[in-house]
Amino acid sequence: MKMIRWGLALAFAGLATQSVAQCPDYTQYSQTPHGGPSSGPLGLPFMRPDPACRTFNSTAVEAIITDMKSLLKDPDIARLFENTFPNTLDTTVRYYSKEQNLAFIITGDITAQWLRDTANQFAHYGTLLGSDPELAQLVKAVINNEARYVSEYPYCGSFQPPPESGLAPSHNDWADGVTVNPPVNNQTVFECKYELDSLCGFLKLSRLYYRNTNDTSFMNENWRTAIDQIFRVINEQSQPTFDEHFNFISFYNWTGGNGALSPMVDNGGNGEPKAYSGLVGTHHRPSDDLSIFAYLTPANAMLSVELTHLAEILDQTHQLRNVSQQAREWSSRIHNAIWDTTVVDNIFAYETNGFGGRYVMDDANVPSLLSLPYLGFLEKHNPAYVATRKLLLSAKNPYYAAGAKFRGVGGPHVNPWHPWPMSQISAIFGSDDDREILTSLYLIANNTAGLGLIHESQSIYNETDYTRSWFAWANSFFAEMILDLAERKPGLVLKENKSYKPGL
Ligand SMILES: *[C@@H]1O[C@H](CO)[C@@H](O)[C@H](O)[C@H]1NC(C)=O
Ligand SMILES: *[C@@H]1O[C@H](CO)[C@@H](O)[C@H](O)[C@H]1NC(C)=O
Ligand SMILES: *[C@@H]1O[C@H](CO)[C@@H](O)[C@H](O)[C@H]1NC(C)=O
Ligand SMILES: *[C@@H]1O[C@H](CO)[C@@H](O)[C@H](O)[C@H]1NC(C)=O
Ligand SMILES: *[C@@H]1O[C@H](CO)[C@@H](O)[C@H](O)[C@H]1NC(C)=O
Ligand SMILES: *[C@@H]1O[C@H](CO)[C@@H](O)[C@H](O)[C@H]1NC(C)=O
Ligand SMILES: *[C@@H]1O[C@H](CO)[C@@H](O)[C@H](O)[C@H]1NC(C)=O
Ligand SMILES: *[C@@H]1O[C@H](CO)[C@@H](O)[C@H](O)[C@H]1NC(C)=O
Repeated sequence: MKMIRWGLALAFAGLATQSVAQCPDYTQYSQTPHGGPSSGPLGLPFMRPDPACRTFNSTAVEAIITDMKSLLKDPDIARLFENTFPNTLDTTVRYYSKEQNLAFIITGDITAQWLRDTANQFAHYGTLLGSDPELAQLVKAVINNEARYVSEYPYCGSFQPPPESGLAPSHNDWADGVTVNPPVNNQTVFECKYELDSLCGFLKLSRLYYRNTNDTSFMNENWRTAIDQIFRVINEQSQPTFDEHFNFISFYNWTGGNGALSPMVDNGGNGEPKAYSGLVGTHHRPSDDLSIFAYLTPANAMLSVELTHLAEILDQTHQLRNVSQQAREWSSRIHNAIWDTTVVDNIFAYETNGFGGRYVMDDANVPSLLSLPYLGFLEKHNPAYVATRKLLLSAKNPYYAAGAKFRGVGGPHVNPWHPWPMSQISAIFGSDDDREILTSLYLIANNTAGLGLIHESQSIYNETDYTRSWFAWANSFFAEMILDLAERKPGLVLKENKSYKPGL
């Protein structure tokens, strides 16, 4: 279906009355409803900022919104799409310079750039990069900014504005009093928790850009250095805690305690010991919480997938044969180790330690076990996924919780009685069952506290008790899921049972 309409930005020209300085803080703005309600039973508000306050304009994005508003059959879902699809561009582009090839993208209510969040904040714009060169430039500038971060601090996941932006760094109370090795400079690093999936996020964003543009110019010196640093981390963090002579091996350690807000970590900030298993360890989870066991199955699954993509891209563009070879070796080693060391009776463990220790649970963030099909690690019909999914969406998962109105998977980041809408989005990506998909979709739509945006978590006891009114990644992930349904299950969400694919 070819429905891109250009020139939509012109329609806004007359409305640009507010200067950016007068723009309301979106953390506050997103806590109360605005605009006229949608015409469905949920009557959801219109939550896009005033055009003058939007942080990036894209005609391609506006065209998709117009398409989807006319195609979606439920006006409440259409309103959610309209609010969420542009949220990253509307609210999170704090700095962008095409000339400097740098962009600073915040997560929403926290003024820092997370490698994981940005990869997902832009994931649903992928197919538009070919038709919107300005948007493609922006993504390339995000990659270059992150390439510099990763080159210097491959163990960190969240960063301060680039100096070229002139923006002041933000203070992070949770980093005060934290001892981290290798040490970091807080003018560049917002928080140095080592989360394996952050590095996967950088690879995913690079892949998204390349696959949708065929442009190799992002593979500059910064990017190549970042890739080398990623392999350094993979090599270091796949090693066991003790070598054969019982020398203690630590390349990275992190601990709070002694009055810091962040917790004390056992064993000199290293956490639980691990044995070699072929997997790559992590120190924190994608939720920024400490790992119990170092080998996080879903992060390794994501790494295995992204390393294969990296190798393909390097081979296609005839670059860095040594890197592509290593990427393939690691990808298959990790893939095999996941199947050999984390699965028992068809059930994946969320974390393992290489000694046989397994923690069967799921955490709400992505990568999660529920999101394995979304990550591209396996097919939704894989028997191990089907069996694991059934367990995860039941009381057998310590972090599953169900109330009268809302249910899903949460995590210790908030608490067990606040499941995350994001877990229901992952569940939709992992299902072909119409009834199951619609149930998850309306669990999400019914539970925005009447605010028409996707929140971090939602209490199972109280409809207005949620966390994070402005969480750009969750909004992007929701919109990405709606577009996925419009393509693979059009009859479920569109007026006509005819597949819709943006950008075509
Ligand atoms: C987006 O467009 C509006 C007018 O439609 C304008 O006021 C605003 O400054 C633009 N934003 C950016 C970042 O260019
Ligand atoms: C950086 O660390 C110093 C020393 O601990 C502290 O005084 C300062 O506030 C920190 N800066 C930021 C931006 O967090
Ligand atoms: C912490 O990591 C550094 C390397 O970054 C290492 O030199 C040091 O020995 C480690 N300390 C502990 C207590 O593990
Ligand atoms: C990229 O190149 C491939 C192979 O030449 C081609 O099939 C594809 O359409 C191109 N994609 C874009 C976005 O230009
Ligand atoms: C690949 O080879 C290049 C050029 O010799 C080198 O600079 C780079 O460090 C190597 N990368 C890896 C991951 O081995
Ligand atoms: C969503 O709310 C409607 C009432 O507005 C209700 O009929 C429906 O069952 C709810 N869906 C779910 C999955 O809770
Ligand atoms: C529900 O949560 C809201 C927001 O946190 C709070 O103000 C309200 O008191 C809670 N209601 C009950 C019945 O606990
Ligand atoms: C949409 O069409 C597909 C294939 O033609 C069919 O399998 C599916 O049942 C239809 N869905 C609805 C909701 O009509």
